[in-house]
Amino acid sequence: MHIKHIEKTSLGFFPTPLVELSRLSHFLGGPKIFMKRDDLTGLALGGNKTRKLEYILADALKQGCDTVITAGAAQSNHCRQTAAAAAKLNMACHLLLGGEAPPKAQGNLLLDHIFDCHIHWTGTNRKGEDIARIFSQLKAAGKKPYLVPYGGSNELGAVSFIDAIAELQEQKKGREFSHVVFASSSGGTHAGLILGKHIYNKAFELVGINIDKETNAALPFEQLITQLVNNTAKLIGLDYSFSKDDLILNSDYVGDGYGVLGPQENEAIALTAKLEGILLDPVYTGRAMAGLIHLIRSGKIGKSDEVLFWHTGGAPSLFAYADALDFSVSDTEI
Ligand SMILES: Cc1ncc(COP(=O)(O)O)c(C=O)c1O
Repeated sequence: MHIKHIEKTSLGFFPTPLVELSRLSHFLGGPKIFMKRDDLTGLALGGNKTRKLEYILADALKQGCDTVITAGAAQSNHCRQTAAAAAKLNMACHLLLGGEAPPKAQGNLLLDHIFDCHIHWTGTNRKGEDIARIFSQLKAAGKKPYLVPYGGSNELGAVSFIDAIAELQEQKKGREFSHVVFASSSGGTHAGLILGKHIYNKAFELVGINIDKETNAALPFEQLITQLVNNTAKLIGLDYSFSKDDLILNSDYVGDGYGVLGPQENEAIALTAKLEGILLDPVYTGRAMAGLIHLIRSGKIGKSDEVLFWHTGGAPSLFAYADALDFSVSDTEI
C-alpha cells in the first residue's frame, strides 16, 4: 500500500478530538456514544472536506494550476471549504451553485463571498452539470483550472479517510466501537472509511446514513461508492476487490429529500445542542444523528454497544435555516 507516497498539503488541524457524549447516552438510556469532531478541522469553520482537500489540492498544486472550480448547493459546506482552501493556497476559486442568488447571502454562501470567490448560479443544474463549460471558458481565458469533483469525492478525497481511521486508531487506546455512524452524500467519506476499516482490520459496523434521495450519477449510489472504493484501492495498490456487500447505506432517513429539515433533524440538533453543547447541521449531521437516535430507540443498536458518531461538520448552514429550525422539540423531555 502506498498512501504515504501520495502528496498532501496542510489545510487543517489533526487529529480532531474524540469525545464522549455521556449526557446524550444517558438521555437515550445507553449505549455509550462517542463523537469524532471533524467539525473542528479548523479550515473556515471546519468539516469533512478539509481532509479531502489536503490531497486533492496538493494534486492541483503539483499540476501547476492557479484556479479551482467546483460545484454544490447554495449552502454547500464543500464549496465553502474549497473557497477557503483556495484562498490559503493563493488560487482563484469558481463555484457553481444550484438555484438562483438569494436576496441576502447567509451561512455558507456568506462565507463564500468573504473568501472572494467567483459564484456562478446554475438554476436547476444543481450538481455540477455546467462545470465543463466554465472549465473551458477559464482555459480559453488563459487560466490553469483544476476541477475539484462534486463533494470532493474522488480517489484522492477517499484516501484522506483512510488516514482518518489511522488517526482514530491512535486515539481510542484499545477501545473497539461496535458501530461507526456518519452522513453519506457524495460517497467519498464512505469510500475512505470502508477502506480504512478493511486496512486496519476493524470489526465495527460502518453505517452510512444516506442524506439525499437522488444521486447525480447514472449508477445507483451503492454501486457508485463501491466503484470509488475499488478505484481508490487500485490507486494505493491494495489487492482486494470490494462488493456492494461491504457497504451499509441506510436510506431510512431521507425524509422529504436533500436539505429539507423535518422534526427528526430538529430533535437531533436540539438534543445534541442542549445536552452536549455541540452544534449539528440541518442537512447532513442533523439527519445522521436523527438516524442514530432512531437506531438506538428501536433497539437496532443495543444498550451495551459503543457507538462512534463521526461529526462531519456543516454548522455554518444553521444560519441559513433560521426559519425552519425548531429548537423547542425536546424542551419537555430533557
Ligand atoms: C457536513 C457534511 N457532512 C457529510 C457530508 C457527506 O460527505 P460525502 O460527500 O463525502 O459523502 C457532507 C458533504 O457535503 C457535508 O457537508
